[in-house]
Amino acid sequence: MVKVAYVQMEPLLLNPDKNYSKAEGLIKEAAKKGAKLIVLPELFDSGYNFENRDEVFEIAQPIPDGETTTFLMDVARDLGVYIVAGTAEKEGESLYNSAVVVGPRGYVGKYRKVHLFYREKYFFEPGNLGFRVFDLGFLKVGVMICFDWFFPESARTLALKGADVIAHPANLVMPYAPRAMPIRALENRVYTITADRVGEERGLKFIGKSLIASPKAEVLSIASETEEEVGIADIDVHIVRNKRINELNDIFKDRRPEYYFM
Ligand code: ACM
Repeated sequence: MVKVAYVQMEPLLLNPDKNYSKAEGLIKEAAKKGAKLIVLPELFDSGYNFENRDEVFEIAQPIPDGETTTFLMDVARDLGVYIVAGTAEKEGESLYNSAVVVGPRGYVGKYRKVHLFYREKYFFEPGNLGFRVFDLGFLKVGVMICFDWFFPESARTLALKGADVIAHPANLVMPYAPRAMPIRALENRVYTITADRVGEERGLKFIGKSLIASPKAEVLSIASETEEEVGIADIDVHIVRNKRINELNDIFKDRRPEYYFM
């Protein structure tokens, strides 16, 4: 069994230093409770509801050679944990809504959000790295960001690539994901960890309800709609590495892709 956690927090818009210290306190709380993998929200360091591209450009950082990745690596090393966290990434003139993965030995990798939601299309380039699974040794972690959940292909691709658990940094504004994520977990026989944010930014309200779902579509932990908090669950990789649901059905081997696409 491995303990995993979400950190639900309220990032302050365009205030990375405050967000680093807020996040550090909550990551410490999760680590103290035994979590080895800790997921933070989308854009945890910057906030979400940007007015224009200049605001994002000002605050975005390169990955891994920027302040946010350095901060996360320091915390991960000090606490001996792995962290997946959403952050605005700058590469040359391009901006991405990204997630970075770090661990006790430093930088592991990054993912760039493939399905941009609404006004994000004004600020960010669509992700161009594909869906990625990071092998942490004790756990294979796939990463997707917020609105990616609406496209079942995201979770399916990560599961087919061998993910045991899907780390899902989010800034949810529509109410559906907490109902959908247990089904994503069930149909792919993986665990999912959605780390959402709370609060309101320039009139945009976020729904909280971060959750950890099991391959049986159980909700193992769910957060409130308004509070900053940490949620923990034990996950069992043996369950998700066996895709058989009875002696005659293996949910991956039984797929019929020749009938799925037009
Ligand atoms: C979202 O993708 N942040 C709704």
